[in-house]
Amino acid sequence: MLDDSKLIWMDGKLIPWKDATVHVLSHTLHYGNAVFEGTRAYKTEKGLAIFRLRDHTKRLLESAKITLITPKYSLEELEQAQIDVLKVNNYNKNVYIRPLIFLGYGKMGVSPKGAPRQVMVATWEWGSYLGDDGIENGIKVKISSFSRYSVKSTMGKAKAAANYLNSQMANEEAVDAGYDEALLLDEEGFVAEGSGECFFIVKNGVLISPPNDYSLNSITQDTTIQIANKLNIPLLRRKITRDEVYTADEAFFTGTAAEITPINNVDGRVIGNGKRGHMTEKLQKSYFDVVYGRDSSFEHFLTYVK
Ligand SMILES: Cc1ncc(COP(=O)(O)O)c(C=O)c1O
Repeated sequence: MLDDSKLIWMDGKLIPWKDATVHVLSHTLHYGNAVFEGTRAYKTEKGLAIFRLRDHTKRLLESAKITLITPKYSLEELEQAQIDVLKVNNYNKNVYIRPLIFLGYGKMGVSPKGAPRQVMVATWEWGSYLGDDGIENGIKVKISSFSRYSVKSTMGKAKAAANYLNSQMANEEAVDAGYDEALLLDEEGFVAEGSGECFFIVKNGVLISPPNDYSLNSITQDTTIQIANKLNIPLLRRKITRDEVYTADEAFFTGTAAEITPINNVDGRVIGNGKRGHMTEKLQKSYFDVVYGRDSSFEHFLTYVK
């Protein structure tokens, strides 16, 4: 996975992995203001291709704008940095791309004013986030005792490092209790999102996913919706309650890392027949066709790294 023979792009330069370090008094390390992306590049028949590079890079800059740490690099420069780091490192498998904008060394105190903005892009080979078995047979999910943080506080449209404390606590609680992942509810008790995924259920042939009020503007959720539209699958965007989750015919998570991962059990309740559901399987297959460049109608989502 992490391979220290590779290069990392840092503040405009490709440098050896081991040299991509920061000072212990870096501002972000203490006060948590950083934004990042998680993007995948797939080994397609035509070579390595980054999936939805423009959308991920736009979201990175929007996150930085929300948290007031806009870097000195443009959208195009940040896209090129991600392409360059993949070109220079030879990969044989699918790759995960992690751009991060953070505040470096130079001042202490809560105010970020005066702390230098730094940017890095690191890449590594990464397989299924929730396991190959999870992709095929589904995972066990626990509804978290932690609410998803409020839109009135840290602003969920930013993929901000600080927001992931909420995700970490929920994930740790679920894993320690013997589950694979957490599902967080919003403050009113409606489904928000997973610790790193958006959520769908299938009920009576209809695909349902909550609005993005209490979740990231997920790119995989959007891809799934576009696929569902193409396949003429009826789709609703509406709030989902906890009891609707338990009685769903199918349920699954979507995320760049998680891809489309079926859910077979929530809080000890078996979902559907306890296996990957038919609609989930159909969407999953189509999703992999899209990311691997086998569906020409979604070819515009791929940036080939020559
Ligand atoms: C909290 C959270 N929600 C949802 C998602 C899914 O977003 P995307 O599909 O854009 O990767 C992620 C992953 O990035 C996430 O971390």
